[in-house]
Parts: sequence; C-alpha cells; structure tokens
Amino acid sequence: MSERFWIRRYDDRSRMNHWFVVICFFLAALSGLAIFHPSMFFLASLFGGGQWDRILHPFFGVTMCLGFVGMALRFWHENRFTDADKQWMRQWRDVVDNREEKLPPVGRYNGGQKAIFWLMVICLIVLFVTGFMFWEPWFAPYVPLTLRRLAVLLHAATATVLIIGIIVHAYAAIWVKGSIGAMTRGYVSDRWARKHHAAWYREVVGRDPRA
Ligand code: HEM
Repeated sequence: MSERFWIRRYDDRSRMNHWFVVICFFLAALSGLAIFHPSMFFLASLFGGGQWDRILHPFFGVTMCLGFVGMALRFWHENRFTDADKQWMRQWRDVVDNREEKLPPVGRYNGGQKAIFWLMVICLIVLFVTGFMFWEPWFAPYVPLTLRRLAVLLHAATATVLIIGIIVHAYAAIWVKGSIGAMTRGYVSDRWARKHHAAWYREVVGRDPRA
C-alpha cells in the first residue's frame, strides 16, 4: 500500500482570516435580512431590536469587507483563470456526476471556486460602495435622493446574489469530503489533493498524482 501523508493547504492566519469573515458575513446577512422585509424582522431581536439592528448592520458590513480585503490580497493570484479552468467549466456535467478522471488536472482552485471568488469580490465592492451611499446620518445627506434609491435597490439585489453564492460555496465545501478540514486544521490528505487538485499536488509534492 502507498504511503499516506498530509499536505499543508492554509496557514493559521489565512484560516483565522476566513472564519472571521464568515462570522461577519452571518452578522451582516442576518441583520440585513431583518431590515430587508417585515417577514424577517424577527431576526432583529438577535441584535437588541430594530434600532440596534439598523445601527449595527453597516458596521458588520464594513468589518466583513475589510476582513475580506486580507483574503482577497492573499488569494487573488491563485484565482486567475487558465484555459484548463475554462475547459473544466465546459465539462460541468462531469463535475456534478463525479467523473473527475475526465476533467483536466486542477490547480490550487478549480474553475467553480475561482468564479465564486470573483463573484465575492464584485459583490463586496458593490455592497461597500452602495452601503455608504445611504448610510444615515453621516453619508446619505451628501448623495442625491434618486441615486440613493438606486443604491438601495442595487445593495439588496447584490446581497441576494452574495448570499446565494455563499450557500453554493459552503455546500461545495461540505460536499467535497476533506475540504472543511483544510479550513479548520489547515491540512488535506494526499488522496484529497490527488483526486481534486492534481496539478496543485504535482506542484507542491513534486510527484506524479497518478503514481
Ligand atoms: C459557512 C460558511 C462557509 C464555509 C463552510 C466555508 C468553507 C470553506 C472551505 C472549506 C474552504 C477551503 C476550500 C479549498 O481549499 O478547496 C474555503 C475557502 C474560501 N472561502 Fe469559505 N466558507 C464559508 C463562508 C465564506 C465566506 C462568507 C467567504 C467570504 C465572503 C468565504 C471566502 C472564502 C475564500 C475567498 C476561500 C478561498 C478559496 C478561493 O480563493 O477561491 N467563505 N471556504
């Protein structure tokens, strides 16, 4: 039987950064949903009622965005699309049917992960900018009313896209067995790396993943 070993995927800082952003995301999403629609207003009780929810929400959002800047600076260069990623995305049927042997060798991240990463970047920039535009009482008075109304609409639509994106991201992390361990303990098994990220395995271990 071949020797089993563990490969370092995330250092302590990256993992702390990730889970800090996750906590901020839940705080921002729940406090935001509470003021998005009356049917979800009950969520405001988690934050001390309607007024506190409204006061705290922008601070949760800004903290999430600042936390994410750390992650984006760390990971953006590993999320640049290659021709192999485009091919991987074209073969999405093989992905969902778990026929990974038919897919081109994947680097540190696959095409889907990269797409979600850039979706997160775009959504957080839009949420950050539009949020400031109607943040009462400090910034909103400087923005014309029509623009503020547009900002509210765009903010809500972008938050919806981000929440769906994060659900897909978390689902994929749980679905691919062994991925959660990468973000909790920092290590993945050699089998995980060979199966899901063969090109990355070759890069970090220096061996043929099929050997
Ligand atoms: C409950 C929610 C979440 C879970 C369970 C989760 C889980 C994970 C796991 C397991 C990985 C490692 C994947 C791998 O190395 O192949 C990862 C990576 C990552 N996560 Fe999350 N995550 C969650 C929420 C978030 C949120 C809210 C954000 C940011 C807004 C985020 C941003 C990232 C980024 C940027 C990466 C690196 C992947 C890349 O750069 O493409 N995650 N996550």
